[in-house]
Amino acid sequence: METKRHPFMKVIKDVRSLPTIPGIIAKVLLLLDDNKTSFKEISRLISSDQTLSSRILRLANSPFYRFPGHVSTIPAAMLMLGSKAIKGLVLTSIIFEMTDKNSLGYWEHSLGTATAANIIAKRLRVAKPEEVSTAALLHDIGKVIIKSKLRDDYEALLTQIKEKEVSMREAELEMFEVDHAEVGGWAVSSWGLPEVLCEPIACHHDVEKAETYRVEAAIVHLADILIKANGFGFTGDDFVPPIQPAAWEVLNVNEPFLEEITVELGHKLIEVHEFSQGIQSV
Ligand SMILES: [Fe+2]
Ligand SMILES: [Fe+2]
Repeated sequence: METKRHPFMKVIKDVRSLPTIPGIIAKVLLLLDDNKTSFKEISRLISSDQTLSSRILRLANSPFYRFPGHVSTIPAAMLMLGSKAIKGLVLTSIIFEMTDKNSLGYWEHSLGTATAANIIAKRLRVAKPEEVSTAALLHDIGKVIIKSKLRDDYEALLTQIKEKEVSMREAELEMFEVDHAEVGGWAVSSWGLPEVLCEPIACHHDVEKAETYRVEAAIVHLADILIKANGFGFTGDDFVPPIQPAAWEVLNVNEPFLEEITVELGHKLIEVHEFSQGIQSV
């Protein structure tokens, strides 16, 4: 029997309709992969593109990474964030171009989730909280891809959500037999993002599926839910899913921990809101 999944993924994976990566960005991504290339060379290349470097600096100084002081140069940003997180930011700058100017709700949701993920990762003393924040920043990229490739289906999806009162993920699974997490995971890995970012994106709605980066996937999952529960931003539905048992288990957190996070997050979201207001000009 023909599944819905197959024709859907065929359209999604059709490279002819994948957004093209500008030459300079493709080169930066390639250099970031090459262990022999020095920080200095990569910094020089990024700095040669004014738009790219100003976007990276603005994101590096955003409330979701919470570095003390101001990061004012690309080499400093690279040292503080590390090459994997920088790679995520380079891709984020492409997604800014892909999304339409009315996507403020999407950016608020993404920036809010990155902020929550950073707070949780730091409290749990995860080794590289910047990588978890960057995965959180990109976690719903699959929605942007579905919307840009299948505009009519995306509209039908929104209608289903309203009429049937289901979550976007439920509507996606029903219509395409694939959800935006899988689409996002596939897309970022085809763009060459490291597994520490790809797996949490692919598994943010199904923590149990994560094999290598289960803690990171659980943090992104939890951060996403906290932000939705907070009513911050909007990405297609108002549904707040329960925290999955696998996430409770792998993070080993309790209700009082969540309350503390929620208080800290509440203060930070005021800053994130101000930041996101200027996001379209990043
Ligand atoms: Fe999602
Ligand atoms: Fe989300």
